Amino acid sequence: MPELTVTAPIAERTYDRYVREDRVHRLLYTDPEVFATEMVRVFGGRSWVYLAHESQLPQANSFLSVRMGLRPVIVTRDKDGRIRAVFNRCSHRAATVCREESGIARSFQCPYHGWTFNNTGELVGTPWPKGYGPGFDKGRLGLTPVTRVETYRGFVFGTMNADAPSVADWLGPATPWLDYWIDRGPGGVVVRSAAHRMGYRGNWKLAFDNAGDGYHPAFSHRSLLAVASRMGDSKDMAYFGRTPDEGPMRAYMLGNGHSVLDQRPNYQGLGSFWANQRPQPGRERFEELVRSRYPGDADRLLDLCVGSQINLSIFPNLLVIGNQIQVIEPLSVERTQLTWNATTIGGVPEEVNTMRMRTQEDFPAFGEPDDQANFEEVQRGLAATEVEWVYMNRGLDVDGWQEVGADGVVSTAITDELHMRHYYAQWLLLMNEA
Ligand code: FES
Ligand code: FE
Repeated sequence: MPELTVTAPIAERTYDRYVREDRVHRLLYTDPEVFATEMVRVFGGRSWVYLAHESQLPQANSFLSVRMGLRPVIVTRDKDGRIRAVFNRCSHRAATVCREESGIARSFQCPYHGWTFNNTGELVGTPWPKGYGPGFDKGRLGLTPVTRVETYRGFVFGTMNADAPSVADWLGPATPWLDYWIDRGPGGVVVRSAAHRMGYRGNWKLAFDNAGDGYHPAFSHRSLLAVASRMGDSKDMAYFGRTPDEGPMRAYMLGNGHSVLDQRPNYQGLGSFWANQRPQPGRERFEELVRSRYPGDADRLLDLCVGSQINLSIFPNLLVIGNQIQVIEPLSVERTQLTWNATTIGGVPEEVNTMRMRTQEDFPAFGEPDDQANFEEVQRGLAATEVEWVYMNRGLDVDGWQEVGADGVVSTAITDELHMRHYYAQWLLLMNEA
């Protein structure tokens, strides 16, 4: 597991006082200056940041508007198929040159004064060129590229760090978890639909805190668990409600702030993901249909209709949850957008993907609002300036919870707040680098 040591000289380690072993300071969620620094150092410093999934750029000249922190970015696939990313920021007077979410374009003409850039970023035309003297150098006025763009099996990341390790190295022990998720689709994963977007009035880290939090479901998602429990003891997520630390689930710390909650040990054998899924409209009829059309393969296909049963958090902004790709998009210190992209998979009958889409409507509709209500209430609570600390001390010094695996990965009980302690070490490392 990569080291999480702070390498900056002591004098520059200005954020150390905000992070202690068992707690973080409220200012990390409320201070606009902390937020502004995060946008530079966490979403633009040494780290890789998730930008897009390749399938969102399906053909030559496809483009997608995204953000890298607050920076507007256009991810493009050029005419030769190569994926690039450039800042969506006109080199003339800074207007965004692309105002569409996605589409096909060989070039972008800035709507302000009409400068035109091709989709690799070069400036190819300015209106009425006689107005520029001999010192005007089009070659120096292209759109600024994201320093490096790299793809890991369809997941596109960008960094401003020319010396960053490869994405695969940076993902490190997270790669087998992402591989598991990708390999569930025998014919690859495709991001379907535009997106399910939700905004909340709270800091972006509240979503990252929560993504690796196995402590909250029994309380935050009480109504969802009650519905599941009525259908049987082992229904999806019901296991979070009863002494979950004594069950088989584990959380794994994967280095560089990444972690995963593994719910799969709650399920045994082919067909068990499907058998324990929460109720869905038309589910019984659908199962009959799949069993009659694909006898002999029905259990495998039905399992692919429901979530992966892992929650993989890739710091700082990518959450792979169930079958979805969720992106955390900070808007301001107290405003965040969460974008959920539903996925389909290749190599399966179309019925499987239809049911996957139904499954993917479930949690964003019935579970995520519970979480976002709490994010907003945390932000409201943080307004009590006299109470300074936010605790992440569950599991700290608890005998027998944390184990180091042969690969150096630390695993622990599912309600341990180690996920927060782990990623804040990475956060601190990035924030302390001037
Ligand atoms: Fe883009 Fe002027 S700001 S052309
Ligand atoms: Fe939740």
